[in-house]
This record gives sequence, C-alpha cells and structure tokens, in this order.
Amino acid sequence: MKAVVNVDVGGPAISRHLYGHFAEHLGRCIYDGFYVGDDSPVPNVDGIRTDIVAALRELEIPNLRWPGGCFADEYHWRDGIGPKESRPSMVNTHWGNVVENNHFGTHEFMQLCEMLGAEPYISGNVGSGTVQEMSEWVEYLTRSGDSPMSRLRRENGRDDPWKVRFWGIGNETWGCGGNMRAEYFADLARQYATYCKNHDDNTLYRVASGARDDDYSWTEALMKSISCLGCAQGPRDIYQALSFHYYTVAPTWENKGRATSFSDDEYELTMAKAWRMDEIIAGHSRVMDCYDPQARIGLVCDEWGTWWKAEDGTNPAFLYQQNALRDALVASLHFDIFHKHARRLTMANIAQTVNVLQAMVLTDGAQMILTPTYHVFEMNKAHQDATNLPLHVVQPGQRRTADGREFETVSASASIKDGQILVSATNLALEGDARIDLDLRGTTWTLGEGRILTAPSVQAHNTADDPTAVAPKKFDGADRDGNTLVIEVPAHSFVTVQLSVD
Ligand code: AHR
Repeated sequence: MKAVVNVDVGGPAISRHLYGHFAEHLGRCIYDGFYVGDDSPVPNVDGIRTDIVAALRELEIPNLRWPGGCFADEYHWRDGIGPKESRPSMVNTHWGNVVENNHFGTHEFMQLCEMLGAEPYISGNVGSGTVQEMSEWVEYLTRSGDSPMSRLRRENGRDDPWKVRFWGIGNETWGCGGNMRAEYFADLARQYATYCKNHDDNTLYRVASGARDDDYSWTEALMKSISCLGCAQGPRDIYQALSFHYYTVAPTWENKGRATSFSDDEYELTMAKAWRMDEIIAGHSRVMDCYDPQARIGLVCDEWGTWWKAEDGTNPAFLYQQNALRDALVASLHFDIFHKHARRLTMANIAQTVNVLQAMVLTDGAQMILTPTYHVFEMNKAHQDATNLPLHVVQPGQRRTADGREFETVSASASIKDGQILVSATNLALEGDARIDLDLRGTTWTLGEGRILTAPSVQAHNTADDPTAVAPKKFDGADRDGNTLVIEVPAHSFVTVQLSVD
C-alpha cells in the first residue's frame, strides 16, 4: 500500500470514546468476572476484582456501558439499591434463565467506574420499563439538593450526585428490547429522552437505540422523527446520538465457528465480514448526512466484536469464548475503520469486557489472562483524543475474495497528539509481508518505537499455561526513505510505529 498523509492538515479528533467497553449481566462478565463479592479469596475492594481493574486502567478505558444489552430492557434499577440482603431477585431470561440476586447494582457500578477512571454509560429500560422509572434513575444518579430521588440515594449512603453523561434509551428495540417497529420506537425515543433531564450541571448525551447491522431504514426513521426540514439549525435537540450494532460472525449466525479452531477459508471470511463495518458506518452516515449535514447527531456503535460458538463445557447462554490472534486483527482493523469515520462516529463499545464474547480479560478462579484483543487496545491507546490523519491511498494493497466479498489485506491509520504521531498497520494476509509506504507531508519527523503483535498462527491464543503466546514485542521493520515511512508488516500481524515531529 502507498498512501499520502498530510500531517499539517489533519482530520477530525478521534474521540477516546471509540475505545469504549461494555459489561452486561451475562454469563461471567459481572458475577465471577468484575464482581466476586467481598468474601472472595480473590483480591477485591468491596467485591470488585482489583487485578481486572488494574489491567483495564492500563488501557485507559474511557467508558463502560452497563447493565446490558438485552438485560437492560428487563432490569429495574430500584431492585439493585439498598442493603444487599433485602434486594429482590429476578430471572435473567435472555442469558441462561439464571436467577440474578441484584447484588451488583447502581452503587456498585458507579464505584467500578470510579475505580477504572471510566465514564459510566447507562442503558435505560424501554422494553419493560416506564418513562417515570427511567426519569427517576437519572434523578437518583445526578441530582443534588433535596429531591425524592436524591434523598433516597443519600439514604443508601451516597451524598453527592455522580456525573453521568452517556445515557442509552433502550437496547435493540427492534429485537430483544421490545420487538418494535422503527416508527413506533422513534416516538418512544423522543418521549423517554424528554424525561431524562439534565439535573444541576449534569448534561446527558442521550443515545437512542439504533439499527441492526445495515438496517438504514431504522436510522432514517429516527433521523426523520427529530428533523424539522428547512430548519437551519439542523435536527431537534431531543437525543444527541443514535446507535447501531454490528458483530463479526462467520460462517453464519446459525452456524457460528469456533474461536481457536478454524480453517483458512473461515479466517478469510471473518476478515471479509469484519471489513463490512466500514461500509455499514458509511451507510448510516450517508442517511444521517441527509438530515444532519453538520453531524450534530452522533453515531454510536455500542456493540461490536467477534461472536463464536461458546467453548465446550461452558453454558452456551453465557457466551464464553477464547480469543485468538484472529480476534486481535479484527479489532485492529475495526480501529482503522473507526478512525476514518471519526467525524460522525462518537463512541464504540466492544462486546464485552470480561469473560463474554470478544473479551479483554478471561478469568478462571483467581487467574486472569489478557487476551490478544487486550493488547490491540493497549498498543492503540495513544490514538484516543488524537487528531486523525487521513490516509490518501494512491496504491492499495493486495485484495482477497471470500464468499463473494472482496477485501483488502492491508489496513492502516495514523493520528497526531502532542507532537507524537502513532501509525497503526495491519496485515491480514495469512502469508507474505505487506509493504506500506506512507509519504508524510507537511512535517519532518524522527522514527521512534515500533511494536508488533503476532504469532506463528492466527489460531494462537493465551492460556493460563502460556499467558504470553500472543503479546506485543519490539518491532524493527520500520524505516525511512526520505520523508516516507516504510513499514514491512509480516503476515497476520498488527504493528504500531511512533514518530516524533521535529
Ligand atoms: O452482547 C450480547 C448481546 O448481543 C446483547 O445483550 C444484545 O444487545 C446483542 O444482541
């Protein structure tokens, strides 16, 4: 691949919230994941596992979405406050029909966010809740002074209100969140958003539950419902963003492949499907541009990642899967795509952080394993809040075809922050180095540290016995030719190269 990068021009900021996370009451994400209870032998603070917190702090995770997912639309927040022994239990109908004891509730989640240094992103219940219930949850969390909900919060031990910016209005309301039609939900979203108030100086960023994959008609229905055509100021300020979900699944939803044993064909199909994220964001953005050319309404991808068959011997409803180098390359490709769309895309949340789907960490008792995907988040963290440097591709890399879809085997992105440029590059090919030539115009620079994430095979993964089978190493395959950065990226590898602007 040959590309020109105009360092002195730059593009939009890459919101740090594109590196967001998601934790649902599902399988072992919360219980026996983040939260082990304060009587656990696993080191914890008030039941929250300290090794997980330390690992995620390294990633500088910007936000955490909770309590779901599908679970959000059957969650009633009042069941999760007050003394634990008197909290009512409920059945988690979506994820294994297990009984949820509500021991991890609002206060525990907010404490977790404080420990992580991450902003909370709360998903409110539209599917089985009420406008009043959601409105009071906002008041409970964010209002100071003497009000019914702030008094209740104080009775439960918390004087000061919390700051909560991100607020989801429902989840997958076209499916598990109520099986609604777009036009019906479009009105509900306006109604719920209206009663999610800004208390004191807390300003909500309300995210209306959006489309599945490439259902652009859903996005259109939502955009239409908040637009007043002819208004110079753009869409009405009822909610500030809408979401969509897209998972990488291969071969099919009905017949998902395995996380660590898959064929070369399945690998290539996975990459072809991962690339679809680019076309899907572009599709939603095109619809939004028609109603909101100034991009006042954000697009949020609050669930993305790989979804494989659950590991043998685990509850299939708990969605526990291993995580191989393949997953890491899916993640690095997604970040290049997210950076490219940073003008419209304001947030993205990988599903899910611990022990579920494409996780950062997997736990087994007291043991914690960092996955290959974790390392991509860590290697890319300097892109958070940096200025995107768009790549103008003058000669694309190799192309492959899988299941009738053509896809590039080379992907890259770059950003600049505080005089430091970070270049990320992925070679998806199973064989053969990829040469990337980046003609960096408008500045002179000095070559800095290079790092590589790779392994002998794309099936490689980390286990308790071999926790660093896939871990970053020093990379010396970057060089300069005049002002052109030349990177030789080995087969199935992700590399980052740092440059300092002179
Ligand atoms: O992340 C797992 C599930 O996938 C979520 O609960 C739901 O929103 C989506 O279908």
